[in-house]
Amino acid sequence: MEDQLLGIKNAAMSLILDSKDQKELEEVMLQFLGRSGQLTLALKELPKLPIEKRAEVGTLANDVKKTVEEAIDRKRAELSHQKVEEKKAKIDITNPGILPPLGHLHLITQAIAEISEIFAQIGFTRVRYPEVEWDWYAFEALNFPDNHPARDDWETFFIKTEPNPKKGPMILTPHTSSGQIREMERKQKPPIRMLNIAKCYRRQSDVSHTPMFHQFEGLVVDEGISITHLKGTLDYFAKSYFGENRRTRIRPYQFQFTEPSFEVDVTCGVCNGKARLPSLRSGVSGQGCRLCKEGWLEMGGAGMVHPNVLKAGGIDPEKYTGFAFGWGVERVLMMKEGIEIDDLRLLYSNKIDFLEQF
Ligand code: PHE
Repeated sequence: MEDQLLGIKNAAMSLILDSKDQKELEEVMLQFLGRSGQLTLALKELPKLPIEKRAEVGTLANDVKKTVEEAIDRKRAELSHQKVEEKKAKIDITNPGILPPLGHLHLITQAIAEISEIFAQIGFTRVRYPEVEWDWYAFEALNFPDNHPARDDWETFFIKTEPNPKKGPMILTPHTSSGQIREMERKQKPPIRMLNIAKCYRRQSDVSHTPMFHQFEGLVVDEGISITHLKGTLDYFAKSYFGENRRTRIRPYQFQFTEPSFEVDVTCGVCNGKARLPSLRSGVSGQGCRLCKEGWLEMGGAGMVHPNVLKAGGIDPEKYTGFAFGWGVERVLMMKEGIEIDDLRLLYSNKIDFLEQF
């Protein structure tokens, strides 16, 4: 009986292996496991065995049955997989293809490209200075006193490492103004017309601030550079970037590295500088503008380069003057018409459904 069972097993296994399709496999199954299949019949013989052999042979018979059933299942899966593969191989090359999903440049990358292009038109050279910076470039050489609040660790990220004996602690640059001194060192002599766009870091996070953000910094140094050059450049940028009907104004302000210093405003794109929303009938509605307060939006800082900064950069302040400005890329982007982002942090959230809109 044992020999018979093993014989059945061998025969079944080799037929299963040789089956070329599902139909053949089903036939093999019937032949062994069907109602009058070889294995089924052999199992029926079990009760006829002498009692002392029954348990042993019974176990063997069950093992054989299990092995055969499993082999059939495996073969069935294999054959059906083969069928799918064959189907796949028959590709109709005249069918229109399926386009893979297309990405695009990030909103900020697009803005950086646009800003660079606008300034390239008037001869600014695009540079990029380190994000991990020495205190010297970010503060000391920019005329910051030792006790200035921006230098303490509430505003600035410090890198835990040995300070440089000449350049002080290592930090994450909190503004692109650190590029001013680096550019003076690189060029050694005016004329300088630099546009430094880089990542900046400050300890801040709310709807209008992210710990990492981008600034673009302009620096122009030459003989006879005056505030009128600065104002002309601001107007040129505002009109090129926001639109022909935009105007700028400068208000007195204070920065350590510029004297005089200004805050630059641009007319609001929603109310067009009127501070009231337009209405269909009278042209001006009673409602206040939802974006600005008095028709102006703050763009950022600017000023005439402080003589101490020129000196620190190795430039003679008796001979040369310059202007500088530094604005947030995210900020000017939000001030563009048609872009309404109510939480700046969304820009860096990697949410595809948000990013796809731009
Ligand atoms: N660095 C200043 C800031 O981050 C902006 C600025 C740049 C001001 C250049 C004046 C001149 O706020």
